[in-house]
Amino acid sequence: MKPIIEVKDLSFKYTANSPLILNSISFKIEKGTITSIAGLSGCGKTTLAFCLCGAIPKSMPGIIDGSIIIEGEDIKNLNLPNLAQKVGMVFQDVDNQLFLPTVEAEIAFAPENLCLPYEEIEKRVEKVIDMLGIESLRYKNPSQLSGGQKHLVALASILSLDPEIIILDEVLSELDRKNKKLIISVIKSLNKAGKTIIIIDHSIKNLMVANSILLMKNGNIEDRIEVDDNNELLYNRLSGFFLQQEY
Ligand SMILES: Nc1ncnc2c1ncn2[C@@H]1O[C@H](COP(=O)(O)OP(=O)(O)O)[C@@H](O)[C@H]1O
Ligand SMILES: [Mg+2]
Repeated sequence: MKPIIEVKDLSFKYTANSPLILNSISFKIEKGTITSIAGLSGCGKTTLAFCLCGAIPKSMPGIIDGSIIIEGEDIKNLNLPNLAQKVGMVFQDVDNQLFLPTVEAEIAFAPENLCLPYEEIEKRVEKVIDMLGIESLRYKNPSQLSGGQKHLVALASILSLDPEIIILDEVLSELDRKNKKLIISVIKSLNKAGKTIIIIDHSIKNLMVANSILLMKNGNIEDRIEVDDNNELLYNRLSGFFLQQEY
């Protein structure tokens, strides 16, 4: 089967004179899997995720080379609204993602932009509010919510487009224990329904939700761990990877 995402020799820098942030990265992700991207702060995880969802270079400038093929198509050839239906990303810096006066308006925004019928938009809004248990936030102003609640609302706003690929950039680490449990169970049920999930995180426990873990260092994928049932071995490999870079 063809991978849902194929990244080939991807390099990126923010300006002509700045260093390479992504340095000829290649990897594949199979449809219906959960993949984690792990690495120390500053290694390029968020930059890579912005490339995967098209924000780089379509709305954030920079110098990009190589290719990203999603569902067989080079994303260079897709515009952002088309790409948003394939890849939804919850930003680490979630304040850059929420801009409307109510949670309900945030969730309805993308389907409204696609000019979906009113009843369909209503249905999608109800579905994601129910899935994430955020009815009590529905008429609140997102700017007044806590960091964790904002991440829930941003997740709701991308799920209303029903994308095949969902990227969570350090979302789990922002949530309290109850909401983290909720999001992990939502991730698992979306994954069961066939969605492909990418989780960026630095907590070893959160990374272990994945089927496969890409270890990033200085703009490169250093290694890839396929997760099996040996949690102890996995924990040791991950903590070794982080520790070896801290000293
Ligand atoms: N908008 C930007 N302009 C210039 N440099 C940036 C920008 N965003 C991130 N960087 C730099 O790119 C590198 C990787 O950052 P980032 O992708 O955010 O890493 P991570 O998510 O792994 O912490 C860092 O050195 C960071 O300072
Ligand atoms: Mg980051």
